[in-house]
Amino acid sequence: MIGKLNHVAIAVPDLDAAAKLYRDTLGAKVSPPLAQPAHGVTVIFVELPNTKIELLHPLGENSPIAGFLEKNTAGGIHHICYEVEDIHAARDRLKAEGARVLGDGNPKIGAHDKPVLFLHPKDFCGTLVELEQA
Ligand code: CO
Repeated sequence: MIGKLNHVAIAVPDLDAAAKLYRDTLGAKVSPPLAQPAHGVTVIFVELPNTKIELLHPLGENSPIAGFLEKNTAGGIHHICYEVEDIHAARDRLKAEGARVLGDGNPKIGAHDKPVLFLHPKDFCGTLVELEQA
């Protein structure tokens, strides 16, 4: 059911330092910071030949990654995102398998303007999983 790895999202306490690390130390192609107020984050996209890394930093009062950074002060992998062809079919299959879909269980429009769902980390090897309809 899952297809390509769309991105790995890494929450970082210092966006400039993280951009410098990926650009200068790792030699990757790094985008300028992009504020996404609707998602409570500022994002830098790191383009790799086969996938993307998203460096996330909290934006605004109720950022969904603020709590994560309080627990992981040096930053850390926040979630991984797999592509699916049909998000509703994926949701129904996962629910039938007993997996917990976060929120009200309905897909929301994600950071790439495509429908996404998040799955409970305790059901997926301790990893927050995002599904995105590609
Ligand atoms: Co994501």
